[in-house]
Amino acid sequence: ITEDTPPLTLSDRSLAAVADLIKTGYARRIVVMTGAGISTAAGIPDFRSPETGLYANLAALNLPEPEAVFDLSFFQQNPKPFYVLARELYPGARYRPTVSHVFLALLARKGLLHMLFTQNIDCLERAAGVPADRIVEAHGSFATQRCIDCKVPFDGEVMRAFVARGEVPRCGQQQGQQQYQYQQPQQQRDDGASSAACGGLVKPDIVFFGEALPRAFFELMDMAKEADLILVMGTSLQVHPFAGLPNMADEQVPRVLFNLEEVGSFGTQADDVLVLGDCDGGVRQLADELGWREELEKTWREL
Ligand code: APR
Repeated sequence: ITEDTPPLTLSDRSLAAVADLIKTGYARRIVVMTGAGISTAAGIPDFRSPETGLYANLAALNLPEPEAVFDLSFFQQNPKPFYVLARELYPGARYRPTVSHVFLALLARKGLLHMLFTQNIDCLERAAGVPADRIVEAHGSFATQRCIDCKVPFDGEVMRAFVARGEVPRCGQQQGQQQYQYQQPQQQRDDGASSAACGGLVKPDIVFFGEALPRAFFELMDMAKEADLILVMGTSLQVHPFAGLPNMADEQVPRVLFNLEEVGSFGTQADDVLVLGDCDGGVRQLADELGWREELEKTWREL
């Protein structure tokens, strides 16, 4: 097999054929795109599932519309609903990676994961063992936070305490003071960081509607064009520009969808493989075809 060997056309649209692509070494640059559907089995609700999705369950917060909870202008006038939700979603020991997350870590361990683009903010890919340099968190994550006005980073431990109490942290409280004196922002120090507490709202570095995606997304999105196999898992592909990723690979690159429902342009290309149903079940089937099932279950148990 040389670099310019054309990807093998799938003999049939089955997981056995996909497994052959991997076992024969044709598929070595696998690009994966994931969404909230791979974390529902961990107990984290997704956004748009009719009954269980977050957007169906935010009624208690009487928002103008569900997505407002992640809308920047709404947050600026009323940050409380977001912080009520953040208490639910905040990553911590409470949630364990799923079998699907562990499968991605196996791909990386075997040198087959070209890049993982995730929309999720739960950091479960990292927790499963996917190396950070193989993950693009396209919608940011809860890993860091900062003041939305002066952009000064906010301490992670103090943030965790505020989130646990369902309270809204403000810039200047990172020193752990319970009360802050509203101070006029001092002149920027020569190192550019303003030392004053400006009293602005603190927000985790997750991408709200109305905010740009992280630079890393735009710098690395072209890696989707280098894929010789695309896996899309647990996403409705409703939110752009992320939703455009699966269409970036060449027409003849096989694409596999692990999802409860058919989404995006899947089904329109010759080598689309639709594995409709629970993604953990689909991943276990693929692991069986690959002969990785024992290793998958063992790795997951030992997390
Ligand atoms: N197995 C397979 N598919 C599942 C499972 C599961 N266990 N659970 C849910 N799904 C599917 C749903 O059927 C749906 O198609 O996963 C998809 C989840 O879609 P969304 O809830 O829209 O989540 P996502 O696609 O990640 O949302 C994208 O929208 O709100 C914004 O920024 C937020 O990143 C999020 C973006």
